[in-house]
Amino acid sequence: MANKMWGGRFQTGPSELMEEINASIDFDKRLFRQDIAASKAHADMLAARGIISEEDNAAIQKGLDQILDEIQSGKFTFRRSLEDIHMNIEDRLRELIGPPAGRLHTARSRNDQVATDFRLYVRDTIDHIVLQIENLMRAFAEQARQHHDLVMPGFTHLQVAQPVTFGHHMLAYVEMFSRDRGRFLDARKRLNESPLGAAALAGTSFPIDRAMTAKALGFDRPMRNSIDAVSARDFVLETLAAAAICATHLSRFAEELVIWSSAQFGFIRLSDSFATGSSIMPQKRNPDAAELVRAKAGRVIGALVTLLVVMKGLPLAYSKDMQEDKEPAFEALDTLSLVLEVTRGMVEDMQPVPERLREAAAHGFSTATDLADWLVRKLNMPFREAHHVTGRLVALAEEKGGDLSDLTLEEMRAVEPRISEDVYSVLGVDNSVASRTSYGGTAPDNVLKMATEWLETIASWQKEETGEQKG
Ligand code: ARG
Repeated sequence: MANKMWGGRFQTGPSELMEEINASIDFDKRLFRQDIAASKAHADMLAARGIISEEDNAAIQKGLDQILDEIQSGKFTFRRSLEDIHMNIEDRLRELIGPPAGRLHTARSRNDQVATDFRLYVRDTIDHIVLQIENLMRAFAEQARQHHDLVMPGFTHLQVAQPVTFGHHMLAYVEMFSRDRGRFLDARKRLNESPLGAAALAGTSFPIDRAMTAKALGFDRPMRNSIDAVSARDFVLETLAAAAICATHLSRFAEELVIWSSAQFGFIRLSDSFATGSSIMPQKRNPDAAELVRAKAGRVIGALVTLLVVMKGLPLAYSKDMQEDKEPAFEALDTLSLVLEVTRGMVEDMQPVPERLREAAAHGFSTATDLADWLVRKLNMPFREAHHVTGRLVALAEEKGGDLSDLTLEEMRAVEPRISEDVYSVLGVDNSVASRTSYGGTAPDNVLKMATEWLETIASWQKEETGEQKG
């Protein structure tokens, strides 16, 4: 049978293979809410402009409400022969209300319809993800506040570099995720314009009111160019780019959890909720959740690359290629949402092990820079020379199998005679972190202040958000 919607000039229905490659209903059915909302706004506008009658609009509104109910309660039958969510809904509307259903598609096309639905969907998803990022940031900031003075080794090249505080390390992630939040909010601002009314690509001769439908759907304004309105997918690309960067940040943290929870490091304990045992080795407690968070970044990055490749070289305006925008976006955003939630759970549960952190912080001559700085400050030595003297002291300590603070004053004076007793005051890890009071530095006072500020900021964002929803 020829397709009901556009079958006028076709003799036979699509072959099974054609249906297989062409139908998108299996995945785009998740746009039903947005599709119905956009259709309701469109029909209201058509009635307000006298393009369809009030009676037809009333029937359309009632029918669409019923379809929403049917889908939500699982009573709706989706048909692949009807290709996509737009035609599934329109066809059901025809079954429910008859001829007035045919008037709904006046002055629009599936091209502006799908662009509108997908913008609404991505916008809703961004709102959810932003909230999840904020909750994750709160979990990190809480850890930072609690452990603002807990000393741990800071690393470069995964080699012990200088002592830092656990709180400071946690706040580094708060900063990263705050930028991820910003990227999603930026993307949201740019995507929040309505394509509806662009029709197939050229606009329409009907006296529609695009500002009215834009407003009804919560868009800031209608898009200015009808060709761009149906062709643009950079709103998805930009959102996926933000998602890929965020997933990358999550993956870096997950890798740290894997390292930190190993027996060799023993820096943290992950709760049983996020670890699993081995089926053969009874002693094992594997950080599976962290490993999966680390790996799932691959899907999100892959989705971005997939859609970039789909879009590159596409001529304006709509081509069916663009139907391939949905699955990668769904997969990436679902995945990101899952890993954000899992990571929040792991951050909330994770318990640092102070003895291990402190012991590791003291290892590897981590206060060598403090010693060099002391030589500069107290002896007015040029830093390069101080670096050299410190190097010789490190070599000496290494030879004796101890740390810098284990060297006697005489031993140090053999290398640099002007060194005094006072030098020991900078050699301990606590002294080291306490001295790093420069803005953005690791001193516990700085960290406590910054963690508190972040917790306040996050609370104020969420107050605004719930306020907006009510208002
Ligand atoms: N299912 C299509 C998509 O997702 C809807 C738009 C179809 N438009 C068209 N001219 N065939 O892109």
